Amino acid sequence: MSRKKITVIGAGNVGATTAQRLAERDFCDVVLVDIVEGMPQGKALDLMQSGPIYGYDSKVTGTNGYEDTAGSDIVVITSGLARKPGMSRDDLLKVNAGIVKDVTLKAIARSPQALVIVVSNPLDAMTYVAYKHSKLPANKVIGMAGILDSARFRAFIAMELGVSVRDVTAFVLGGHGDTMVPSTKYTTVAGIPVEDLIPRDRLAQILERTAKGGAEIVSLLKTGSAYYAPSAAAVQMCDSILLDKKMILPCAVLSNGKYEGCDGLFVGLPAKLGSGGVEEVVKFKLAPNESEALKRSAAAVKELCEAVDRLGF
Ligand code: NAI
Ligand code: 2OP
Repeated sequence: MSRKKITVIGAGNVGATTAQRLAERDFCDVVLVDIVEGMPQGKALDLMQSGPIYGYDSKVTGTNGYEDTAGSDIVVITSGLARKPGMSRDDLLKVNAGIVKDVTLKAIARSPQALVIVVSNPLDAMTYVAYKHSKLPANKVIGMAGILDSARFRAFIAMELGVSVRDVTAFVLGGHGDTMVPSTKYTTVAGIPVEDLIPRDRLAQILERTAKGGAEIVSLLKTGSAYYAPSAAAVQMCDSILLDKKMILPCAVLSNGKYEGCDGLFVGLPAKLGSGGVEEVVKFKLAPNESEALKRSAAAVKELCEAVDRLGF
C-alpha cells in the first residue's frame, strides 16, 4: 500500500510549517511547491534530513512545477501575499485571486480526485475562487480559518481560567475577518458554559481579542503573519480527512440551507470532515444575537465574492 500524498502550494511560512507538521505525522508523503527557484527544494531536503532524528519516513519533495504533485489526495493552497501598506482590500483580492486560480487549475489538472484546503487570504473569497476553478463538488473544497480562530479563543479562555486547553471547546463561525462570530453558547470548559465562568465584560474583551487575533500577531512580528497555529489548523483538517476521523470542525464550507443568510457562500460553519471531505454541515441552534451576527458576517463574505466576480475571477 502506498502512502497518501499531500501537496502544499506555497512554501512560505504557513506552507513550509504545514509540510513540517505533516512530515512529522508520518502518515503521508508531501510535495512542496513554490515559484521561488530552489527554495521549496531546499526546505524539502532539510525536512528529509530531519526524518532520521524524528524517526519519520515521510518523503518530502520540493519543486517549482506540478509533475510531482500528480495523484495527490489533498492539495493545501497557501500561496499568496499578505496585505502590504498602501494596498487596498480589492488590490489584495485581485493578486491572490489570480494566484489561487492559477495554482488550483494546475494542481487539479494533475490530481482530479484531490480535496482542496484553502488557506490564502481573504480566506472565504479565496475558497470560492478555488471552488469555481477546480469544478470540484462542494464537499471537496474547504477553507481553513475557523479552527484557527477557535483555537485563539480557546487559548485565551484557558489562559484566563488557568485550565487545560483540552477542557475548552469553542466554535468561531462566520467569515475570517472583523465580522467573525465566536459562539459563546457553544463554548464550554469541561462541559460548563463559559458564560457561567467568566464575567460578561471580561468575556467581551476576550471575544474582541479573538476577532483581532491575526492583527495582534502581525503587529508583533512586523514582517509577516501567524503561521504556527494556522499550519496546525490545516494539518488537523488533513488528519480528520485522511484518517476518516469525522471531527466536527469550524471550516469555510458551502452552506446548504442550514444557516440563515449563508446559502451559496463559503463561510465558517461547523462541518464533519472525513474521507469524503465535508460529510455534513452540522446544524447548531445559535442564540438570536449569534444568528444575526452570522448573517452580517455572511453578508460581508458575499461582498468579497461579488468583488471576485466583478474583477473577472
Ligand atoms: P509567505 O509570504 O510566507 O508565503 C507565501 C508563499 O507563496 C511565498 O513563498 C511565495 O513565493 C508563494 N507564492 C506566491 N505565488 C505563488 C504561486 N503562483 N505559486 C506557488 N507559490 C506562490 O506567506 P504565509 O505567511 O505563508 O501566508 C500565506 C497566505 O496564507 C497569505 O495569503 C496569508 O494571508 C494567509 N493566511 C491565512 C490564514 C487563515 O487563517 N486562513 C492564516 C495565516 C495566513
Ligand atoms: C491570521 O488570522 C493572517 O489570517 C491570518 O493570522
